[in-house]
Amino acid sequence: MDEMGLKHLFSPGKIGNVEIKNRFIRSATWVAKATIDGYVTEDLIECYNQLAEGGIGLIISGYIAVDPSGAATRRMACLYDDSYISGQKKLVKTVHEHPDVKIAAQIAHTGNGVFIFGNQEFEPVGPSPMMNLVLNKPCRELTTEEVRRIIKNFVDTGCRAYDCGYDMVQIHGAHGYLLSDFVSPFTNKRTDEYGGTIQKRTKILIDIYNQLRDELSKNFPIFIKLNTQDYLQEGLTLEEGKEVAKILIDIGYDAIEPSSGRYNLKFGSKKTYPSVILKSKDDENYFLPNVKILKPIMKSRPIIFQGGIRNPLTAEKFIQENSVDFIAMSRPLIYEPDLPNR
Ligand SMILES: Cc1cc2nc3c(=O)[nH]c(=O)nc-3n(C[C@H](O)[C@H](O)[C@H](O)COP(=O)(O)O)c2cc1C
Repeated sequence: MDEMGLKHLFSPGKIGNVEIKNRFIRSATWVAKATIDGYVTEDLIECYNQLAEGGIGLIISGYIAVDPSGAATRRMACLYDDSYISGQKKLVKTVHEHPDVKIAAQIAHTGNGVFIFGNQEFEPVGPSPMMNLVLNKPCRELTTEEVRRIIKNFVDTGCRAYDCGYDMVQIHGAHGYLLSDFVSPFTNKRTDEYGGTIQKRTKILIDIYNQLRDELSKNFPIFIKLNTQDYLQEGLTLEEGKEVAKILIDIGYDAIEPSSGRYNLKFGSKKTYPSVILKSKDDENYFLPNVKILKPIMKSRPIIFQGGIRNPLTAEKFIQENSVDFIAMSRPLIYEPDLPNR
């Protein structure tokens, strides 16, 4: 297949004022190559180097913890204090040695999404005391003061990412980690200013954006990976996900990468929750309904499409039709970091 047949995929795009050389994004992917306490390693740098060499326009980093209580995965990178800056700077510098390759820091708090199996000492936290099915104990409900502190930690970590040379920041608001647990009525039963109506459940994302924007230049994009649906009775519906997205676009988020689902509810559960695993060709492009419903509220800001994208011709068509603005992939680029060049 020659590049000419994919000319929209290989045309430049923009997030905020930052130009991206083509429409290929590496969706955030934790690769378990940081040290056990979250420092950058040569192995991790090499992973990003290969992606940058492989022709990608924008790399979104694997999730980076904003707080020690939000680093619930082994070998997850951290940036919650200044000791992490020098390693992160080196990683970003390596990526920027490749012409026109951009990199975003995905900043996250894993909340109740604990992945450290059997670590009974770890205390997961969340908006409300939801059962943690990995540790078989409930997470601890955060006080209002603690919520405000975590918001500040997102802001401080975003500023550190900026200082490290990252081109933009992505807030991780998906997959059953802390921020999506606030947005979901299934996991958020709070009665303070961070729970109740959709507006209140979204307040944590509003506060993070507003406070981070106050600290950073207008030219530094802040965007979000957002759960738009829980697939659970009493969970977030797609219609509500659209309302949340509209609030975020109205306050200024520069782009949205819709996602959905909460993998952490499956672990150890006797119930079966629907999951989104690519089993056949019919499972490709599985967040298409989510991007379709969000597109009209985007006010011309980019929508990043991810989830089971496997066919370049179909991806080209989505861009050509203007249904989406960027194509983001994770698993294909684990196997083939040079996929765009190929
Ligand atoms: C090994 C692995 C690690 C992942 N780590 C993250 C992560 O750190 N942050 C995130 O938002 N999504 C993460 N994801 C989800 C992907 O970004 C993506 O949303 C999902 O895999 C669907 O895209 P795909 O079909 O192209 O793989 C991860 C996925 C995989 C397979």
